[in-house]
Amino acid sequence: MKVEKSTALLERYGGIIPGGVHSNFRQPVYFERASGSRLYDVDGNEYIDCVVNNGACILGHGDPDVAAEVKKALQQGLTSGIESELSLKVAKQLHDMIPSAEQVRFANAGTEAVMKSLMLARCFTGREKIIKVEGAYHGWFDEAQVSVHPEPGAAGPPDRPIPVPSTGGIRQNTVDTVLIIPFNNLEALEYTLAANKGEVAALLLEPVVFNSGCIMPRPGYLEGVRRLTQKYDVVWIMDEVITGFRLAPGGAQERFGVTPDMSVFAKAIANGWPLSAVVGRKDIMSLSHPGGKVLYGGTYNGSQATLAAAHACLEKLKTGRIQKHLQALTDRLQDLFRERVQDRGLAARLEQFGGQYQVFFTDREIFDYRTACAADRESYLVFQQTVREQGIWMSDGYLFHHGVTDAHTDEDLDQIITAYDRGLAKVAERIRTRPASGRPA
Ligand SMILES: Cc1ncc(COP(=O)(O)O)c(C=O)c1O
Repeated sequence: MKVEKSTALLERYGGIIPGGVHSNFRQPVYFERASGSRLYDVDGNEYIDCVVNNGACILGHGDPDVAAEVKKALQQGLTSGIESELSLKVAKQLHDMIPSAEQVRFANAGTEAVMKSLMLARCFTGREKIIKVEGAYHGWFDEAQVSVHPEPGAAGPPDRPIPVPSTGGIRQNTVDTVLIIPFNNLEALEYTLAANKGEVAALLLEPVVFNSGCIMPRPGYLEGVRRLTQKYDVVWIMDEVITGFRLAPGGAQERFGVTPDMSVFAKAIANGWPLSAVVGRKDIMSLSHPGGKVLYGGTYNGSQATLAAAHACLEKLKTGRIQKHLQALTDRLQDLFRERVQDRGLAARLEQFGGQYQVFFTDREIFDYRTACAADRESYLVFQQTVREQGIWMSDGYLFHHGVTDAHTDEDLDQIITAYDRGLAKVAERIRTRPASGRPA
């Protein structure tokens, strides 16, 4: 892999942009263009993209139908700060696709939509506290930055985690309003709800925790969450920013058959264009009616080019064909990976669902944040670096998630698995040659 031009750009601009990146989840490699499943950087390297805009790209880069509708919108000259028929039509698409979407309002980023859903839940219930899952990420605002990936030693017992700020600059009184639970543990949820009875506004929950790689809900878990949130009269906000449209046209709520009170969608809604949506029960959503109790503003909410992208994207997503293709791709990837791991006698697993996945270096079952973060991080980094040298774009975060798009083919998958096999060989070599005391447990 050539790196000269990216390195020179980082040297030139790194002094004015911390780390040379505008999000801490990016690597300082500078890209020039993208097409289908491929990314091309300034050094002329071609990669098969497995980060897919952090899950936002679902159709493939530069999808022609999305590009055509965006071009049309640009020619019409409308940008933001106004409504159009398009902003009503896209809301109707969401209403028709998503089980919980009695009403719909747009924002730009997932972060904004989650923030507003919490404010609506607080106003609706007249309560302040929220419950959040340890290891889940819901954006970069204050409450969401509690117990994202805490150091387990500082985060309390696994079944009674304590809130830990994940960033500097967060107000302690914000941290104090966030209650933390382990995923897949209904006993801990009920304990927390009972101990804070009458004080909890909302439970914020990612139905599959892709923000700790990929943690599946155990059978009955989401149904149990629904039952308990109803029993304690707490608003359940399902964060579908990643699961939305990937798991089914109506998101995880359709795929698992469980309907929350409110949900938040972003990322794949517009194939990478910045659009998000808060959707949910009419009695809660209507608090944001103009002149109502909750102020809902935003110059760029539902800007016209992003809505055009969403309109084209949702038209393609609503049939369910794409979701089947994504699932088939990651099913196959998991099978091939398992074979390679067995051949090499390694402790590794590829967890996946609906076209999103992550590789973990552990042979233990992963069912919550503590079991995910116990995977071997060093092995993951060796793997990731080797794979990247083979032209596969992967995240260097061992708790990050990867994905495929509708543009990924079986041939792409063959290339990915060949690269993964080299990565596994490198990990096996490292384990063989490491002093016995340094071996992972
Ligand atoms: C589940 C989830 N919720 C919310 C967010 C925040 O979305 P955004 O990055 O668009 O602000 C993310 C981003 O990765 C996410 O994965």
